[in-house]
Amino acid sequence: MTKCIAFHSYKGGTGKTTLATNLSVLLAKKGYRVFLLDLDVYAPSLGSYFDLKPPRSWINDFLFGTADVDDICIDITNKILPDKTQGKLFVSLANSNKEEIYKLEGNISKQSSQMQFLRNFILLREELIMKKNADFIIIDTSPGVRYWSINALAVSDIVLLTLKMGDLDVDGTKKMANEIYGSFTKFGTMCYLLLNRGAGYCTIPPDQHNPIMSSNTAYGSGSKISTSSTLLQLAEEISIDIISEIPCYCDIQFSQKEFLTGLKYPEHPFANKVHTLIKKLEENN
Ligand SMILES: Nc1ncnc2c1ncn2[C@@H]1O[C@H](COP(=O)(O)OP(=O)(O)OP(=O)(O)O)[C@@H](O)[C@H]1O
Ligand SMILES: [Mg+2]
Repeated sequence: MTKCIAFHSYKGGTGKTTLATNLSVLLAKKGYRVFLLDLDVYAPSLGSYFDLKPPRSWINDFLFGTADVDDICIDITNKILPDKTQGKLFVSLANSNKEEIYKLEGNISKQSSQMQFLRNFILLREELIMKKNADFIIIDTSPGVRYWSINALAVSDIVLLTLKMGDLDVDGTKKMANEIYGSFTKFGTMCYLLLNRGAGYCTIPPDQHNPIMSSNTAYGSGSKISTSSTLLQLAEEISIDIISEIPCYCDIQFSQKEFLTGLKYPEHPFANKVHTLIKKLEENN
């Protein structure tokens, strides 16, 4: 059965895009058919993340009813994954052109367009399932309470509420849980807290080009960070379970261009964290 998973957060910069991309790629590497959607329509980033040329059609066109599902799914399997991979990875991009963003934004103030957008968005999910045989649909969203993010949550089976544990994150997450997530969970959506960039681990990965480091430096276990009492308290207060805690890795944080750490460095503790997340998502029914 297809699983539709959205990454959302109250604040920006919590790692939604990093996690959505790494998760999608490792799922495809495992043999699944994965469709990654850029629903961060206000600040799309997947096109530059994967270094893709502008596509024939954008998600925006599908939402306006002027493109088919085949037009917006870009097959990046061969570009990203090793040859022998059984799985498939498709990505659909949002148009970062400011006129296109205004067009989407302008139209959501009209109720008739809102209904049409939502219908088309639900249709997109249905077509990815029925026509494209998706195993996983992964949605990257904009932070905060934005129209398209809320729609993404509405069509998802699982919402991963990503947070960094600053005070603002905690307060905002509480507010969103009370005002928004509750209404989705009533209808069966599973909602989880995902702590990312947590404190407790910091190292530099072995660098293939640096013989001193590659021979002497191990990644270390790096998998253990203690669950802070604030996080436990938050989870209890909003009745949302914690699905994963991922430390802040300096090499990811300070890399010039973080790109698929989970794929490039399979031994990196971040990759292990994503694999563990995959297991939990596979088991989630
Ligand atoms: N576990 C991690 N350890 C260290 N750095 C991380 C980790 N996860 C993400 N980052 C870094 O944090 C920064 C923000 O990540 P990312 O762009 O994925 O966040 P985002 O939630 O998508 O942001 P936005 O809300 O602006 O779209 C990036 O520089 C990324 O490399
Ligand atoms: Mg992002």
